[in-house]
Amino acid sequence: MDHIQFALSTGQSAGTFFHDIRFVHQALPNLGVEDIRIHTETGDLKLKSPVFINAMTGGGGRQTEKLNALLAYAAKETGIAMAVGSQMAALRDPEERASYQIVRKVNPEGFIIGNLGSEASLKQAEEAIEMIEANALQIHLNVIQELTMPEGDRDFKGALERIEEIAEKVKVPVIVKETGFGISREAAEKLASTKIAAIDVSGYGGTNFAAIENERRARKLSYFQEWGVPTAAAIIEVKKAFPQTVLASGGIQNALDMVKAFALGANAAGLAGSFLKTAIEHGEKQLITDIETLKEDLGMMMTALGAKDIADLEDCPLIISGELYHYLLLRGYD
Ligand code: FNR
Repeated sequence: MDHIQFALSTGQSAGTFFHDIRFVHQALPNLGVEDIRIHTETGDLKLKSPVFINAMTGGGGRQTEKLNALLAYAAKETGIAMAVGSQMAALRDPEERASYQIVRKVNPEGFIIGNLGSEASLKQAEEAIEMIEANALQIHLNVIQELTMPEGDRDFKGALERIEEIAEKVKVPVIVKETGFGISREAAEKLASTKIAAIDVSGYGGTNFAAIENERRARKLSYFQEWGVPTAAAIIEVKKAFPQTVLASGGIQNALDMVKAFALGANAAGLAGSFLKTAIEHGEKQLITDIETLKEDLGMMMTALGAKDIADLEDCPLIISGELYHYLLLRGYD
């Protein structure tokens, strides 16, 4: 509940670098709004919705159960996928299971993604998948959050080996994600040697877990609050190093951010903080309206760009300027 409260009060930090990307207008797109197909291809991941609700809640009893039910209902009504928050709480305490299983109860046929940290064992990963009949499993990397948490982990050895084993042995596709600090090219290269189906870059510029955890401690580790690979840069970094599906998240707030993420090569986009804000402040009806509006806006911009599906967006010419241009130059991209 602390995380939810501080995620809302610290807000989105707006450092994604998406503002440094412009599309080149195409005056002759030669298609109509009805030609647009708002679904995506994600290879082994088999996710069809280009937008999904990213991992947030679970554990914490009735309050998170209610919130998860609301999110699951919105996901069902709009036909999009949803990830639950870390299931470690429910693996440690079976009484917490209801707050996750509600998601499957509300949306029996939906695409639901389980979630655990990279400290999880193969056995825990299998239990988490079974708990909610997950269609895929996210494994999150959150070194900066743990370091900023007074009670957080201090030892991050062996994560890649555990991911390797889980991806090889579990029966559903595995996604490795960050939690708002981004995945670099170097990390993506390491992950490319495993059998994971997708990387969710979850970059800097949206929900900031260093800011959230700093709210919970007396001596602030303020240096971590501006730490991370901005989301637009992270998509480019991961795309070059990882041949499978790339998911975009971290500070995505509207359809324009999504279209830019797809143009950079992401196959789908996840929103956490901005959906949470709508869910808590305005309820499920507004969340459903917002998701439908996102899809409609996506269709409008795809029409203007002459892209009839999500994959076509990758062929759109882009103008990259400002900090993102500088960043890419220094990282050796042309
Ligand atoms: C999160 N996030 C998260 N991620 C994860 O893998 N496991 C988790 O349990 C949680 N918990 C969580 C709680 C709350 C309240 C928020 C807002 C977020 C991180 C989330 O999935 C995402 O990676 C980041 O929040 C960045 O995306 P946004 O929020 O900028 O869209």
